[in-house]
Amino acid sequence: MTFALAACGGGGAGSSDDSTETSGGDATASGDQTIGVAMPTQTSERWIADGDAVKSQLEEAGYTVDLQFANDDIPTQTQQIDQMILQEVDLLIIASIDGTALTSQLDAAGAAGIPVIAYDRLINGSENVDFYVTFDNYNVGVQQATSLLVGLGLLNEDGSENPEAPEGPFNVELFAGSPDDNNAGFFFDGAMDTLKPFIDAGTLVVPSGQTDFDTVATLRWSQEAAQRRMEDLLTSTYSGGEELHGVLSPFDGISRGIITALQGAGYGPTIEDGLPVVSGQDAEIASVALIDQGVQFATIFKDTRKLATESVRAAQAFLEGNEPEANDTDTYDNGVKVVPSYLLESDIVYASNIEELLVDSGYYTAEQVEQGS
Ligand code: BGC
Repeated sequence: MTFALAACGGGGAGSSDDSTETSGGDATASGDQTIGVAMPTQTSERWIADGDAVKSQLEEAGYTVDLQFANDDIPTQTQQIDQMILQEVDLLIIASIDGTALTSQLDAAGAAGIPVIAYDRLINGSENVDFYVTFDNYNVGVQQATSLLVGLGLLNEDGSENPEAPEGPFNVELFAGSPDDNNAGFFFDGAMDTLKPFIDAGTLVVPSGQTDFDTVATLRWSQEAAQRRMEDLLTSTYSGGEELHGVLSPFDGISRGIITALQGAGYGPTIEDGLPVVSGQDAEIASVALIDQGVQFATIFKDTRKLATESVRAAQAFLEGNEPEANDTDTYDNGVKVVPSYLLESDIVYASNIEELLVDSGYYTAEQVEQGS
Protein backbone atom coordinates (compact mmCIF):
# COMPACT_ATOMS: atom_id res chain seq x y z
CA MET A 1 0.00 0.00 0.00
CA THR A 2 2.92 2.34 0.41
CA PHE A 3 3.96 2.41 -3.23
CA ALA A 4 3.71 6.18 -3.57
CA LEU A 5 5.69 6.95 -0.48
CA ALA A 6 9.22 6.77 -1.73
CA ALA A 7 8.40 9.34 -4.34
CA CYS A 8 6.10 11.56 -2.35
CA GLY A 9 7.33 11.34 1.20
CA GLY A 10 9.27 14.55 1.07
CA GLY A 11 6.75 16.59 -0.84
CA GLY A 12 4.14 17.25 1.78
CA ALA A 13 2.49 20.64 1.89
CA GLY A 14 4.31 22.87 4.26
CA SER A 15 7.42 20.79 4.18
CA SER A 16 10.72 22.27 3.22
CA ASP A 17 14.08 20.76 2.49
CA ASP A 18 15.31 21.11 6.02
CA SER A 19 12.10 19.94 7.65
CA THR A 20 11.59 16.70 5.79
CA GLU A 21 13.23 13.35 5.95
CA THR A 22 11.82 10.21 4.44
CA SER A 23 13.98 7.17 4.62
CA GLY A 24 14.34 3.70 5.94
CA GLY A 25 13.55 0.40 4.27
CA ASP A 26 12.45 -0.10 0.70
CA ALA A 27 9.12 1.70 0.58
CA THR A 28 8.03 -0.11 -2.55
CA ALA A 29 8.43 -3.58 -1.10
CA SER A 30 5.14 -5.30 -0.44
CA GLY A 31 4.28 -5.58 3.23
CA ASP A 32 6.53 -2.69 4.11
CA GLN A 33 4.99 -0.35 6.64
CA THR A 34 5.44 3.39 6.90
CA ILE A 35 5.05 5.49 10.01
CA GLY A 36 4.41 9.22 9.85
CA VAL A 37 6.18 11.13 12.62
CA ALA A 38 5.11 14.76 13.17
CA MET A 39 7.36 16.81 15.45
CA PRO A 40 6.68 20.43 16.43
CA THR A 41 9.91 22.31 15.82
CA GLN A 42 13.64 22.20 15.28
CA THR A 43 14.23 25.42 17.22
CA SER A 44 14.49 23.47 20.46
CA GLU A 45 17.14 20.82 20.65
CA ARG A 46 14.94 18.38 22.52
CA TRP A 47 12.57 17.87 19.59
CA ILE A 48 15.47 17.25 17.20
CA ALA A 49 16.72 14.59 19.62
CA ASP A 50 13.20 13.11 19.82
CA GLY A 51 12.84 13.07 16.04
CA ASP A 52 16.25 11.42 15.58
CA ALA A 53 15.63 8.83 18.28
CA VAL A 54 12.15 7.88 17.05
CA LYS A 55 13.29 7.69 13.43
CA SER A 56 16.36 5.57 14.08
CA GLN A 57 14.58 3.20 16.45
CA LEU A 58 11.67 2.73 14.03
CA GLU A 59 14.09 2.08 11.21
CA GLU A 60 15.93 -0.46 13.33
CA ALA A 61 12.60 -2.20 13.82
CA GLY A 62 12.20 -2.35 10.03
CA TYR A 63 9.75 0.48 9.34
CA THR A 64 9.98 3.28 6.80
CA VAL A 65 9.72 6.68 8.45
CA ASP A 66 8.32 9.97 7.19
CA LEU A 67 9.64 12.49 9.75
CA GLN A 68 8.43 16.09 9.57
CA PHE A 69 9.12 19.17 11.68
CA ALA A 70 6.65 22.06 11.55
CA ASN A 71 8.62 25.13 12.70
CA ASP A 72 6.09 25.64 15.52
CA ASP A 73 3.52 26.66 12.90
CA ILE A 74 0.07 25.08 13.30
CA PRO A 75 -1.00 25.19 9.60
CA THR A 76 2.32 23.59 8.63
CA GLN A 77 1.74 20.74 11.06
CA THR A 78 -1.87 20.16 9.99
CA GLN A 79 -0.80 20.09 6.32
CA GLN A 80 2.01 17.65 7.08
CA ILE A 81 -0.39 15.29 8.84
CA ASP A 82 -3.01 15.67 6.08
CA GLN A 83 -0.33 14.68 3.61
CA MET A 84 0.75 11.66 5.65
CA ILE A 85 -2.86 10.46 5.76
CA LEU A 86 -3.25 11.00 2.01
CA GLN A 87 -0.13 8.91 1.50
CA GLU A 88 -1.74 6.18 3.58
CA VAL A 89 0.84 5.83 6.30
CA ASP A 90 0.19 2.83 8.53
CA LEU A 91 0.43 4.71 11.81
CA LEU A 92 0.95 8.26 13.07
CA ILE A 93 3.15 9.45 15.94
CA ILE A 94 2.37 13.08 16.68
CA ALA A 95 3.92 15.64 19.04
CA SER A 96 1.41 18.42 18.54
CA ILE A 97 2.04 22.16 18.55
CA ASP A 98 -1.49 23.06 19.63
CA GLY A 99 -3.16 20.10 21.31
CA THR A 100 -6.62 21.22 20.19
CA ALA A 101 -5.90 21.98 16.54
CA LEU A 102 -5.78 18.49 15.06
CA THR A 103 -9.38 17.28 15.35
CA SER A 104 -10.10 17.08 11.62
CA GLN A 105 -6.76 15.34 10.95
CA LEU A 106 -7.51 12.78 13.62
CA ASP A 107 -11.05 12.27 12.29
CA ALA A 108 -9.51 11.49 8.91
CA ALA A 109 -6.97 9.14 10.49
CA GLY A 110 -9.75 7.38 12.40
CA ALA A 111 -11.84 7.02 9.22
CA ALA A 112 -8.82 5.55 7.41
CA GLY A 113 -8.09 3.14 10.28
CA ILE A 114 -4.70 4.71 11.01
CA PRO A 115 -3.76 4.38 14.70
CA VAL A 116 -2.55 7.60 16.33
CA ILE A 117 -0.01 7.80 19.14
CA ALA A 118 0.25 11.16 20.90
CA TYR A 119 3.94 11.73 21.59
CA ASP A 120 4.80 13.62 24.79
CA ARG A 121 1.91 16.10 24.33
CA LEU A 122 -1.70 14.94 24.62
CA ILE A 123 -4.00 15.71 21.68
CA ASN A 124 -7.30 17.03 23.00
CA GLY A 125 -10.87 16.88 21.79
CA SER A 126 -10.65 13.73 19.67
CA GLU A 127 -11.86 10.15 19.98
CA ASN A 128 -9.09 9.05 17.64
CA VAL A 129 -6.09 9.28 19.95
CA ASP A 130 -5.26 5.65 20.56
CA PHE A 131 -2.34 5.90 22.95
CA TYR A 132 -0.18 8.47 24.73
CA VAL A 133 3.52 8.13 25.56
CA THR A 134 4.92 10.79 27.85
CA PHE A 135 6.59 11.54 31.16
CA ASP A 136 4.79 11.99 34.46
CA ASN A 137 4.08 15.63 33.67
CA TYR A 138 2.62 16.59 37.06
CA ASN A 139 5.74 15.19 38.71
CA VAL A 140 7.95 17.18 36.33
CA GLY A 141 6.31 20.31 37.76
CA VAL A 142 6.88 19.02 41.30
CA GLN A 143 10.54 18.50 40.42
CA GLN A 144 10.86 22.01 38.92
CA ALA A 145 9.50 23.59 42.10
CA THR A 146 11.60 21.27 44.25
CA SER A 147 14.75 22.40 42.47
CA LEU A 148 13.80 26.03 43.08
CA LEU A 149 13.32 25.30 46.80
CA VAL A 150 16.67 23.48 46.89
CA GLY A 151 18.34 26.47 45.24
CA LEU A 152 16.89 28.78 47.88
CA GLY A 153 18.23 26.49 50.62
CA LEU A 154 14.77 25.44 51.83
CA LEU A 155 15.12 21.78 50.82
CA ASN A 156 18.05 19.41 50.40
CA GLU A 157 18.83 17.91 47.00
CA ASP A 158 17.19 14.65 48.09
CA GLY A 159 13.94 16.58 48.64
CA SER A 160 14.08 16.43 52.45
CA GLU A 161 13.57 19.59 54.52
CA ASN A 162 16.71 21.46 55.42
CA PRO A 163 16.71 21.82 59.23
CA GLU A 164 18.98 24.83 58.91
CA ALA A 165 16.85 26.49 56.22
CA PRO A 166 17.04 30.27 56.08
CA GLU A 167 13.83 31.99 57.14
CA GLY A 168 13.37 34.10 54.07
CA PRO A 169 11.16 35.61 52.91
CA PHE A 170 12.35 34.97 49.38
CA ASN A 171 11.05 36.92 46.39
CA VAL A 172 10.19 34.66 43.46
CA GLU A 173 8.51 35.09 40.08
CA LEU A 174 6.69 32.40 38.10
CA PHE A 175 6.71 31.40 34.44
CA ALA A 176 4.56 28.72 32.78
CA GLY A 177 4.70 27.13 29.33
CA SER A 178 2.50 27.48 26.26
CA PRO A 179 -1.22 27.62 27.04
CA ASP A 180 -2.07 25.48 23.99
CA ASP A 181 0.20 22.66 25.19
CA ASN A 182 -1.65 20.32 27.53
CA ASN A 183 1.59 19.62 29.41
CA ALA A 184 2.03 23.24 30.48
CA GLY A 185 -0.92 23.07 32.90
CA PHE A 186 0.34 19.82 34.42
CA PHE A 187 3.82 21.30 34.99
CA PHE A 188 2.36 24.44 36.55
CA ASP A 189 -0.08 22.53 38.77
CA GLY A 190 2.67 20.24 40.05
CA ALA A 191 4.92 23.22 40.70
CA MET A 192 2.28 25.34 42.42
CA ASP A 193 1.08 22.50 44.66
CA THR A 194 4.71 22.20 45.80
CA LEU A 195 5.30 25.94 46.29
CA LYS A 196 1.94 26.73 47.88
CA PRO A 197 2.75 25.72 51.46
CA PHE A 198 5.83 27.96 51.31
CA ILE A 199 3.79 30.84 49.86
CA ASP A 200 1.07 30.32 52.47
CA ALA A 201 3.69 30.34 55.24
CA GLY A 202 5.16 33.60 53.92
CA THR A 203 8.54 31.99 53.19
CA LEU A 204 8.03 32.70 49.49
CA VAL A 205 6.53 35.92 48.18
CA VAL A 206 5.58 36.73 44.59
CA PRO A 207 6.02 40.52 44.59
CA SER A 208 4.46 41.05 41.13
CA GLY A 209 1.29 39.31 42.30
CA GLN A 210 1.30 37.35 39.01
CA THR A 211 0.42 33.81 40.04
CA ASP A 212 -2.35 32.55 37.77
CA PHE A 213 -1.56 30.33 34.81
CA ASP A 214 -2.96 32.61 32.09
CA THR A 215 -0.90 35.57 33.29
CA VAL A 216 2.38 33.70 33.61
CA ALA A 217 2.03 31.46 30.49
CA THR A 218 4.52 31.81 27.61
CA LEU A 219 3.02 31.27 24.15
CA ARG A 220 4.96 28.66 22.09
CA TRP A 221 7.48 28.39 24.93
CA SER A 222 9.24 31.42 23.42
CA GLN A 223 12.64 32.37 24.87
CA GLU A 224 12.27 35.93 23.54
CA ALA A 225 8.80 36.38 25.05
CA ALA A 226 10.11 35.11 28.39
CA GLN A 227 13.06 37.50 28.28
CA ARG A 228 10.69 40.42 27.57
CA ARG A 229 8.34 39.45 30.40
CA MET A 230 11.26 39.15 32.83
CA GLU A 231 12.55 42.58 31.73
CA ASP A 232 9.08 44.03 32.26
CA LEU A 233 8.82 42.45 35.71
CA LEU A 234 12.21 43.85 36.70
CA THR A 235 11.08 47.32 35.66
CA SER A 236 7.59 47.15 37.13
CA THR A 237 8.39 45.41 40.40
CA TYR A 238 12.09 45.45 41.21
CA SER A 239 13.31 48.91 40.23
CA GLY A 240 12.85 50.23 43.76
CA GLY A 241 15.68 48.14 45.21
CA GLU A 242 13.77 44.93 46.01
CA GLU A 243 15.85 41.86 45.33
CA LEU A 244 14.64 38.88 43.32
CA HIS A 245 15.82 35.49 44.64
CA GLY A 246 14.31 32.83 42.41
CA VAL A 247 12.36 32.18 39.23
CA LEU A 248 10.23 29.14 38.41
CA SER A 249 10.91 28.34 34.76
CA PRO A 250 9.26 25.42 32.92
CA PHE A 251 11.72 25.00 30.02
CA ASP A 252 15.45 25.61 29.43
CA GLY A 253 14.86 28.03 26.53
CA ILE A 254 12.65 30.14 28.80
CA SER A 255 15.28 29.85 31.55
CA ARG A 256 17.97 31.26 29.26
CA GLY A 257 15.70 34.15 28.27
CA ILE A 258 15.08 34.89 31.96
CA ILE A 259 18.80 34.67 32.78
CA THR A 260 19.68 37.06 29.93
CA ALA A 261 17.16 39.58 31.28
CA LEU A 262 18.49 39.22 34.84
CA GLN A 263 22.13 39.59 33.83
CA GLY A 264 21.17 42.57 31.66
CA ALA A 265 19.71 44.21 34.75
CA GLY A 266 22.94 43.69 36.69
CA TYR A 267 22.28 40.42 38.53
CA GLY A 268 25.05 37.80 38.60
CA PRO A 269 26.64 36.77 36.34
CA THR A 270 26.58 33.58 38.48
CA ILE A 271 24.41 32.36 41.34
CA GLU A 272 27.37 32.86 43.64
CA ASP A 273 27.39 36.54 42.62
CA GLY A 274 23.69 36.94 43.36
CA LEU A 275 21.99 35.73 40.19
CA PRO A 276 18.55 34.40 41.21
CA VAL A 277 18.00 30.65 41.23
CA VAL A 278 16.31 29.59 37.96
CA SER A 279 14.81 26.15 37.26
CA GLY A 280 14.34 24.55 33.83
CA GLN A 281 13.40 21.48 31.80
CA ASP A 282 14.80 19.24 29.07
CA ALA A 283 18.51 19.23 29.95
CA GLU A 284 19.33 21.14 26.77
CA ILE A 285 23.08 21.20 26.33
CA ALA A 286 23.30 25.02 26.50
CA SER A 287 21.55 24.94 29.87
CA VAL A 288 23.52 21.97 31.17
CA ALA A 289 26.70 23.96 30.51
CA LEU A 290 25.17 26.94 32.38
CA ILE A 291 24.36 24.66 35.31
CA ASP A 292 27.93 23.38 35.25
CA GLN A 293 29.11 27.02 35.35
CA GLY A 294 26.83 27.96 38.27
CA VAL A 295 24.56 30.19 36.16
CA GLN A 296 21.31 28.21 35.76
CA PHE A 297 20.51 26.27 38.93
CA ALA A 298 18.82 23.11 37.68
CA THR A 299 16.91 21.41 34.88
CA ILE A 300 14.76 18.31 34.47
CA PHE A 301 16.19 15.43 32.46
CA LYS A 302 13.65 13.61 30.33
CA ASP A 303 15.48 10.87 28.48
CA THR A 304 14.15 11.21 24.93
CA ARG A 305 15.74 7.88 24.00
CA LYS A 306 13.40 6.11 26.41
CA LEU A 307 10.38 8.03 25.15
CA ALA A 308 11.27 7.01 21.61
CA THR A 309 11.57 3.38 22.72
CA GLU A 310 8.08 3.48 24.28
CA SER A 311 6.56 5.03 21.16
CA VAL A 312 8.15 2.34 18.99
CA ARG A 313 6.89 -0.37 21.33
CA ALA A 314 3.36 1.07 21.14
CA ALA A 315 3.57 1.39 17.33
CA GLN A 316 4.68 -2.21 17.00
CA ALA A 317 1.84 -3.42 19.21
CA PHE A 318 -0.78 -1.63 17.09
CA LEU A 319 0.72 -2.79 13.81
CA GLU A 320 0.71 -6.37 15.05
CA GLY A 321 -2.95 -6.04 16.01
CA ASN A 322 -2.38 -5.77 19.76
CA GLU A 323 -2.98 -3.10 22.41
CA PRO A 324 0.16 -1.46 23.80
CA GLU A 325 0.81 -1.83 27.50
CA ALA A 326 -0.30 1.23 29.50
CA ASN A 327 0.80 2.13 33.01
CA ASP A 328 -1.76 4.94 33.49
CA THR A 329 -5.39 4.74 32.46
CA ASP A 330 -6.78 7.55 34.67
CA THR A 331 -4.87 10.79 34.29
CA TYR A 332 -5.05 11.94 30.70
CA ASP A 333 -8.62 12.87 29.81
CA ASN A 334 -8.59 14.69 26.49
CA GLY A 335 -12.14 15.97 26.85
CA VAL A 336 -13.60 13.09 24.85
CA LYS A 337 -11.96 10.07 26.43
CA VAL A 338 -9.30 9.04 28.89
CA VAL A 339 -6.34 8.12 26.72
CA PRO A 340 -4.39 5.04 27.86
CA SER A 341 -0.87 6.24 28.60
CA TYR A 342 2.63 5.11 29.29
CA LEU A 343 4.42 7.52 31.66
CA LEU A 344 8.18 7.66 32.17
CA GLU A 345 10.04 9.12 35.12
CA SER A 346 12.29 12.18 34.98
CA ASP A 347 15.22 13.38 37.10
CA ILE A 348 16.35 16.72 38.51
CA VAL A 349 19.78 17.73 37.22
CA TYR A 350 21.99 19.81 39.52
CA ALA A 351 25.65 20.70 39.00
CA SER A 352 26.43 17.83 41.37
CA ASN A 353 24.86 15.05 39.27
CA ILE A 354 25.46 16.15 35.65
CA GLU A 355 28.10 13.51 35.25
CA GLU A 356 26.07 10.68 36.74
CA LEU A 357 22.81 11.45 34.92
CA LEU A 358 23.95 12.84 31.59
CA VAL A 359 27.53 11.80 30.90
CA ASP A 360 27.64 8.30 32.37
CA SER A 361 24.35 7.48 30.59
CA GLY A 362 25.87 8.53 27.26
CA TYR A 363 23.35 11.35 26.70
CA TYR A 364 26.16 13.91 26.38
CA THR A 365 29.94 13.73 26.38
CA ALA A 366 31.97 15.60 28.98
CA GLU A 367 33.25 17.83 26.13
CA GLN A 368 29.71 18.79 25.16
CA VAL A 369 28.94 19.76 28.75
CA GLU A 370 32.07 21.88 28.83
CA GLN A 371 31.39 23.55 25.48
CA GLY A 372 27.63 23.89 25.78
CA SER A 373 27.02 22.54 22.30
C1 BGC B 1 7.51 19.22 26.67
C2 BGC B 1 8.70 19.81 27.37
C3 BGC B 1 9.26 20.96 26.57
C4 BGC B 1 8.20 21.90 26.10
C5 BGC B 1 8.76 22.94 25.17
C6 BGC B 1 6.53 20.30 26.36
O1 BGC B 1 5.41 19.76 25.77
O2 BGC B 1 6.92 18.22 27.47
O3 BGC B 1 9.67 18.81 27.56
O4 BGC B 1 10.13 21.69 27.41
O5 BGC B 1 7.16 21.22 25.49
O6 BGC B 1 9.26 22.37 24.01
